[in-house]
Amino acid sequence: MTAAPNPRYAKSREMFARASRVIPGASQTFSKSHIAYPEGQAPLFLSHGKGSHVWDVDGNEYVDFVNGLLPVILGYDDPDVTAAVVDQLGRGITFSLATEAEVRLAERLVEIIPCAEKVRFGKNGSDATAGAVRVARAFTGRDRVAVCGYHGWQDWYIGTTARHKGVPQATRDLTSPFPYNDLEALDRALAAHPGEFACVIMEAMNAVEPAPGYLQGVKDIAHRHGALFILDEIITGFRYALGGAQDLFGVTPDLASFGKGMGNGFPISAVVGRADVMAQMEDVFFSFTAGGEAVSIAAALATIDKVQRENVVGHLWRQGGRVVTALAERIAAHGLGDVLSVSGKPCWPLLGIQDTPGATAWEIKTLYLQEMLARGILVQGGLNFSFAHDDTDIDSLLAAYDDVLPMIALAVRDKAMAQFLKCDPMRPVFRVR
Ligand SMILES: Cc1ncc(COP(=O)(O)O)c(C=O)c1O
Repeated sequence: MTAAPNPRYAKSREMFARASRVIPGASQTFSKSHIAYPEGQAPLFLSHGKGSHVWDVDGNEYVDFVNGLLPVILGYDDPDVTAAVVDQLGRGITFSLATEAEVRLAERLVEIIPCAEKVRFGKNGSDATAGAVRVARAFTGRDRVAVCGYHGWQDWYIGTTARHKGVPQATRDLTSPFPYNDLEALDRALAAHPGEFACVIMEAMNAVEPAPGYLQGVKDIAHRHGALFILDEIITGFRYALGGAQDLFGVTPDLASFGKGMGNGFPISAVVGRADVMAQMEDVFFSFTAGGEAVSIAAALATIDKVQRENVVGHLWRQGGRVVTALAERIAAHGLGDVLSVSGKPCWPLLGIQDTPGATAWEIKTLYLQEMLARGILVQGGLNFSFAHDDTDIDSLLAAYDDVLPMIALAVRDKAMAQFLKCDPMRPVFRVR
């Protein structure tokens, strides 16, 4: 099928053509690009956002459940963050020496994150995970790394995925993925190279709940093999609990990486951890021109204050809980239990889609996105809630499900996907969760 362009997205298509002439991929981020959405049936460029809503370049309005891939934890143009940022803009952005605000932000993280005794700041989540891994290598004098989950764009991690083009084989050889909730597999992976693993780094949870004792088991196995235990809290930080998944699950890692929600969209991240390990940062090269950039530090201080003051975590769990319950009911009511599933914690639920005899998972996902977007719901596989999502936004989401789930049910049951899809099915591009 040739994609039939939808006039609703005419300006997005024009801008895509223009961007493609000067920007490879026409976007800075795979998951924000045309490969993440149904061809010709999705907006590709946004113009602005306010609270929980965004507008595309065609003027279409959406309730945004992507939220910049999760950093927007309070909402767009949050008044408290904007005020703090405007104030800082008038006083300077990137200075020639460290500032007092860096100290204050580090003190705040030490207060709220269980493992944090010392802190260094980065800009992207990948800075924080790469920094933690380099520190672990320095501390242990070892090279190998065991990984579980997604940890960013840098060589040491991305070399383990299908998107490893450009990563040297020698680097790829040093990183071993291990499966979630399988302590024996981890033990075997570490035992395969005795005395060589510097660290085990993982997301504490994304779609699947940790089995009882699993996270503590990972920590124990890592330590038994002389490796450090690192939690990647780029998503879970300030979302699962104020102090992240380690706070929620009660398992304290040696090091952890935070980012995303920390600055409500401003580029800031942090490596935090045990004082004796973080002491390596005195010598390890984790140093860049925009380190300590003051506007993002001001944004992070304002964001964290608000997350704590307004019990934002409680709001995310409450709104998410409402959606998870309602969505599960609707999935059952439409007989889609073998097609769709909701997993993850309510503060960050993930919609799973299975292949069925009537349609492939990618056909179903394409139809789902095509129709949710047409109804003004910007969404991907996860539901990325923010403090700005009010009851009306949740009602809009549920109303869209009420329209779209019956269509999916019909398309699957009658093997009639071709009648519903207005474009070719999306193709798997990159899957790590
Ligand atoms: C768990 C996790 N770790 C690390 C990263 C990398 O963060 P960034 O894209 O900000 O470099 C991400 C990004 O999605 C993530 O989800």
